[in-house]
Amino acid sequence: MVRVVTERELLDHIALDLSAVEDVERGFAELDKGNATVPPIMMIPVPHLDAEVDIKAAYIKGLPMLAVKVASGFFRNPEKGLPSQSGQMVVIDAETGFLQGVLLDNGYLTQVRTGAAGAVAAKYLAPKDCANAGVVGAGAQARFQMRALALIRDIRTIRSFSLDSDDVRDAYTRDMERELGVKVITAASVEEVVRESSIVVTTTPSRRPFLKAAWLHPGLHITSMGADAEEKQELEGAVAGAVNILACDLKAQSTRLGELRSALRDGAITAETPIFELGAFVNGKHPGRTDEQQVTMCDLTGVGVQDTMISLRAYAIAQEKGLGVEIG
Ligand SMILES: NC(=O)c1ccc[n+]([C@@H]2O[C@H](COP(=O)([O-])OP(=O)(O)OC[C@H]3O[C@@H](n4cnc5c(N)ncnc54)[C@H](O)[C@@H]3O)[C@@H](O)[C@H]2O)c1
Repeated sequence: MVRVVTERELLDHIALDLSAVEDVERGFAELDKGNATVPPIMMIPVPHLDAEVDIKAAYIKGLPMLAVKVASGFFRNPEKGLPSQSGQMVVIDAETGFLQGVLLDNGYLTQVRTGAAGAVAAKYLAPKDCANAGVVGAGAQARFQMRALALIRDIRTIRSFSLDSDDVRDAYTRDMERELGVKVITAASVEEVVRESSIVVTTTPSRRPFLKAAWLHPGLHITSMGADAEEKQELEGAVAGAVNILACDLKAQSTRLGELRSALRDGAITAETPIFELGAFVNGKHPGRTDEQQVTMCDLTGVGVQDTMISLRAYAIAQEKGLGVEIG
């Protein structure tokens, strides 16, 4: 029998909470131990529609199931009154290879697992005092990243900068103030966000770097999660070269698709620069932040182990609660 679960049910029952963060953290730990098989991302372009379908997957030794995510980005869909992003996750039995579940999440589980990765980065790298947090962007991940940070650190204010209209920015302020009980301050520039915050999360699809190394200050942690493709870049390459601890989710991916790609290209870091994957902190191979004055950075590009961990979590909850329909 195959369990098919709708987006509505997933929205209602799968939360970004500490337990979800722990699951994603465990995925990074297994990756670091060499227990995960993560094939390269498969990208199927549909050029005449300015579109692509991306496939991410991972098998983690010892888990009863594995997952494959098929995510579509059809960027001309809004012209037809349709959303540009859609997708689903497929859960497969790791003993028999049989299909077990289809999670029609339309990207929601990706938002949750990406927020969770931000929480893992903050847990090991952010300073203890994150009362003044900052975020660049005011979209979906600007919300999920701050929700995730609030699980790990006590935040009082969020200083936010984005390129949106006042309406969109107001909606961000309203949502975060209501949900997290924080004060949201609309900043006049990215520079203000960086200079006034002890942690900054960048969450944009920018193709031009907007965060400069000259603005770094002692104690700052930056998580950069917007760049997940070759053409994207949020941070000046020099930022990666200027920090005390440089981290990422998966080195092979970050150096190809993330901020580490542009940092290498600009010569700010080299193949010899120490770069630590999140799993190394989780497994205690690296202590993470040891000094409140250190400047730290984590580049997130999104790894298949996160998708497998969140899919298995969602599937288990769906089984337990009898969500969706069974077919077969
Ligand atoms: N690393 C991962 O695992 C992962 C996972 C999901 C999404 N992403 C990427 O994260 C990015 C954000 O995703 P989202 O769903 O939040 O997008 P979104 O469209 O909901 O929000 C993007 C926000 O960025 C702002 N923005 C764009 N360019 C800017 C700039 N130069 N300066 C300031 N603000 C700017 C926009 O105004 C908007 O508020 C995308 O690039 C997406 O592909 C990465």
